[in-house]
Amino acid sequence: MIVTSTKRLIISKVTLNDAPFFVELMNTPSWLKYIGDRNIKSVKDAKSHLKNGILKSYQESGYGFYKVAQKIEPDKAIGIVGLVKRKELEHTDIGFGFLPDYEGKGFGFESSIAIMGLAKNIFKLEKVCAITNPKNKSSIHLLEKLDFSFEKKVKPFDDGKELLLFAKDLL
Ligand SMILES: CC(C)(COP(=O)(O)OP(=O)(O)OC[C@H]1O[C@@H](n2cnc3c(N)ncnc32)[C@H](O)[C@@H]1OP(=O)(O)O)[C@@H](O)C(=O)NCCC(=O)NCCS
Repeated sequence: MIVTSTKRLIISKVTLNDAPFFVELMNTPSWLKYIGDRNIKSVKDAKSHLKNGILKSYQESGYGFYKVAQKIEPDKAIGIVGLVKRKELEHTDIGFGFLPDYEGKGFGFESSIAIMGLAKNIFKLEKVCAITNPKNKSSIHLLEKLDFSFEKKVKPFDDGKELLLFAKDLL
């Protein structure tokens, strides 16, 4: 189901059929380096991860992560972008991740602008935050282009790793 589209991209809801794509995405070098190894090594792992994560988020929050494809190749997922309400953070956060061949082409910015539009106009969020590894220059650069401001350093998860918290008011 298509959620929104941009000049070059189609953004749609994830289904269990996308499990093989998630195995690929969640094991790319930058994902493993900056987001971490979530131990999604098989289609079975990915299906269970999707059921307990993104698909549950659609039901509980009305939003979640979406897959991104190019209009010129609509059946090939190239990345994900979306919103997630985590119990560890006060506000909903935006996230993004693309396959290596599709980084550095402006797709992160283009898809995130669309998601921020949904966050404000459809989901009526007053504030969106973002967390990122301090060494993830591409992510920080993208957040700054999206007009997010650095708020503070946080350690939201059990692994105790320090992340940077960015935020943007939508009011
Ligand atoms: C972080 C990440 C999502 C950024 O995505 P991205 O698409 O590369 O980011 P951007 O949209 O900012 O585009 C990057 C560059 O593409 C360039 N670009 C190339 N062709 C372009 C085009 N046709 N239109 C627009 N920009 C284009 C831009 O100039 C931009 O660089 P600049 O801002 O210095 O000018 C991506 O690097 C990624 O998936 N990383 C791995 C996963 C990850 O770390 N996720 C974040 C976790 S917090």
